[in-house]
Amino acid sequence: MSPTWMGKCSHCSAWDTIVEKVEIHSEPNCASAVFATTVDEFGGSIEAIELLDIEAPNVGRLQTGIGELDRVLGGGLVVGGVVLVGGDPGIGKSTLMMQSAIGTVKANEEGTTVLYATSEESAYQCKMRGERVVEGFDNASLKGVYLLADTDLERITAQVLKIRPKLLIIDSIQMVYRRDLNSTPGSVSQIKRCCLELVYLARKLQMAVMIVGHVTKEGQLAGPRVLEHLVDVVLNFEGDRHYALRGLRGAKNRFGTTLEIGLFEMGERGLIEVEDAAAYLDPEAPPRAGAIVCPALHGSRCLLIEVQALVASGTVGQARRRSNGLDGARLPMLIAVLEQHAQLEMNDKDIYTSTVGGLKLIEPAVDLAVCTAMMSGAMNIVLPSNMCAIGEVGLGGEIRSVPQIEQRIAQARRRGYKSLLVPITQEKMGGSGCIGMASIGALGAFLQKNANRAQSKMQLSDGEKKRFTECY
Ligand SMILES: Nc1ncnc2c1ncn2[C@@H]1O[C@H](COP(=O)(O)OP(=O)(O)O)[C@@H](O)[C@H]1O
Ligand SMILES: [Mg+2]
Repeated sequence: MSPTWMGKCSHCSAWDTIVEKVEIHSEPNCASAVFATTVDEFGGSIEAIELLDIEAPNVGRLQTGIGELDRVLGGGLVVGGVVLVGGDPGIGKSTLMMQSAIGTVKANEEGTTVLYATSEESAYQCKMRGERVVEGFDNASLKGVYLLADTDLERITAQVLKIRPKLLIIDSIQMVYRRDLNSTPGSVSQIKRCCLELVYLARKLQMAVMIVGHVTKEGQLAGPRVLEHLVDVVLNFEGDRHYALRGLRGAKNRFGTTLEIGLFEMGERGLIEVEDAAAYLDPEAPPRAGAIVCPALHGSRCLLIEVQALVASGTVGQARRRSNGLDGARLPMLIAVLEQHAQLEMNDKDIYTSTVGGLKLIEPAVDLAVCTAMMSGAMNIVLPSNMCAIGEVGLGGEIRSVPQIEQRIAQARRRGYKSLLVPITQEKMGGSGCIGMASIGALGAFLQKNANRAQSKMQLSDGEKKRFTECY
């Protein structure tokens, strides 16, 4: 036997006779071996059943006490379900987990316990965070939350069996490992195996599990995408670390819709729920070229978000096109539509687009707002500050209708936006103040007319004048 490869056997001196043999560990004493002995033990059936004979199980839910989180989850954590929470470092995943842990103990029946297994921070660091996020902290407010600073899955499982929590939090899965696997912690096989075992555990013990995962530089949930297939719910925590606004979005949900978005603001006392992103808009701000507000839908909610565009001179062939918070793949298409149908020369222009606050806008209904911002930026036309735009742009330059226009318009009106650029097909539906746009060409003509009118009588209110003088 030799621990390394050798060409010649040191015993019999024969060449090329050494064969590699991989050592296989005996069946480990692990959660899956203990629990997953039969299929039906974790919710499966060993015999085929006719659909009509299957009875709806009573899906129990645990409230986390955080309204925005419960809504994204579809009404709370499902007992026996596993939730994977991803997001960039420093975005606030651990903060959300700690708040959920404390909230779950409070919001559910007496005696509910939560086990928080941390692998990245010390127990004391976690306690500090707990103290920070509880308003009017006293030690009793942390009752029922157990902390375990360990990364060994077997020991975590042992503690779960001892404490029998209703909710288990793993922060984060990247460091959790199984001793009997050869691979290093954080490797694909370790993460996948540990996650699978946590799924078994959740089903078997009927407890909810929340797992934190990191996001790689490419923006994907680290620890391969395979994790996404193993769990029931995948939530992405997004937003710009430099802004306080955070969005929690469902990428997959076996127990509810993925359209919802939960809004939070990172503050001194942890994450605070935000009712409406419009709080981030400043209706009194002086109007600028290259910016317009868009009523975008996120699940059952309509949020008003400002879209900005900067059109600067660049070099032909090396023009830069960047988008922050918008669909990067759609931007070149919209630019091409502007060139073709509004006769704008953009090939020597650098174009940067962005949403304010760091929230992502991915629905095609924001196209018209992006195009309006780009055109207004390129033509240096200042739009009235109480104007917003919604509509999808087609390859032919036509403006297409968008879903739920009434809800969007109602929300915009509620927030004081009086004139609305909408698809011409939906102008009537929108009522007064709606300006129907048939095509990108029509939008160009409209902006031009607006510019002429604005030049001749651009009236500023006293508040705006004051701001102008303060700003410049
Ligand atoms: N003492 C503090 N006061 C205010 N904000 C803090 C404090 N400590 C951390 N934060 C905020 O919390 C964020 C880190 O949150 P955390 O939940 O640890 O993120 P993650 O787990 O996603 O890496 C920091 O970016 C910072 O904004
Ligand atoms: Mg963390």
